[in-house]
Amino acid sequence: MPGIRAPSNYSEEPPRHPALKINAKEPFNAEPPRQALVSSYVTPTELFYKRNHGPIPVVDDIERYSVSVVGLIEKPRELFMKDILNLPKYNVTATLQCAGNRRTAMSKTRTVKGVGWDVSALGNAIWGGAKLADVLELVGIPKCTSVTPAGGKHVEFVSVDKCKEENGGPYKASIPLIQATNPEADVLLAYEMNGETLNRDHGYPLRVVVPGVIGARSVKWLDTINIDSQVCQGFFMQKDYKMFPPSVNWDNIDWSTRRPQMDFPVQSAICSLEDVNVGRNGKIAIKGYAVSGGGRGIERVDISTDGGKTWKEASRYQKPGTQYIADDDKSDKWAWVLFEAEADVNSNTVIVAKAVDTAANVQPEKVEDVWNLRGILNTSWHRVLVQVRHSSM
Ligand code: MTE
Repeated sequence: MPGIRAPSNYSEEPPRHPALKINAKEPFNAEPPRQALVSSYVTPTELFYKRNHGPIPVVDDIERYSVSVVGLIEKPRELFMKDILNLPKYNVTATLQCAGNRRTAMSKTRTVKGVGWDVSALGNAIWGGAKLADVLELVGIPKCTSVTPAGGKHVEFVSVDKCKEENGGPYKASIPLIQATNPEADVLLAYEMNGETLNRDHGYPLRVVVPGVIGARSVKWLDTINIDSQVCQGFFMQKDYKMFPPSVNWDNIDWSTRRPQMDFPVQSAICSLEDVNVGRNGKIAIKGYAVSGGGRGIERVDISTDGGKTWKEASRYQKPGTQYIADDDKSDKWAWVLFEAEADVNSNTVIVAKAVDTAANVQPEKVEDVWNLRGILNTSWHRVLVQVRHSSM
């Protein structure tokens, strides 16, 4: 591919922030400390989680970099950065969440396969770029199209990076054409993150951002857009990122029985506390995030300071000082809300958070009920243990 290349080893990785907790080094997978997530509504780029499946591509000549739009369309085209930059620019605030977020906790009940993650495999960023709906119009596909005259129903994104799961081939994924061509779905080809040029870790020079959908579909380092009659047949759509019931194990799994996961379910986690905290009795600040998929807002965050027997509601906000209202025009529909509550803790206890989205979906109580062999979508109630050390005075 002219202008961009995929290194075959890890000798050309970009610099990374020392505060990131590294879950796997090669490929590089890391998340920020919990506290950092709730320090700001928009996650600083350097602390944003990084989820990779191969070495980070290198751009040698941005002038020569292009995206090929091919497949079941009338006017296949090669689009250069200048063509993308010529389209109207949109800034969309959206939370990207890896389907494997909170996997480590799931694997504690029963072993799962996959990179371990605490509660920080997500972040909220302002993505700047062109709408995919506008890009597809350049190749003759009108807005809100579900099928092209030649039978194209899916938009496949093929990357530059080389992954071992694809036997050295590129990472890929697809979304339905109707979502890609719907301007309201806000699917972007992003070249900016938090007001700056996208950096290498996050997909420079161009990545897809599919708001409200698991991070796996937001393909980085875009190479080709392929309009296809069927869902992408790549590893990460067919043999990964599917939600299986707890009864399925590695001996009886049949990947074809489940659809690729798209929207993420309602999720929340406490970030001001670790899993186990030892402190003095008194007031404790409980802060965290809540987010749901598909553009559903957060209706409520319930907090319990007695292990789930009784509950009180936390306050929610996106912009500091402004009360968050789900589905309000002023709220960012694709973004998380941060929540805050205070508790008076006098003896050892378990503090719990659970969120409810605008469709009244609630997080499941027990991790066992959503356990699955790949350890995805652990959205069970988030619990932290607080142990009180009484002063001897
Ligand atoms: N795109 C490419 N080309 N290669 C990848 O490994 N990882 C996916 C997605 N897009 C991936 C990719 C996964 S699983 C997630 S969760 C997000 O990118 C992570 O994006 P981030 O690293 O910018 O946080």
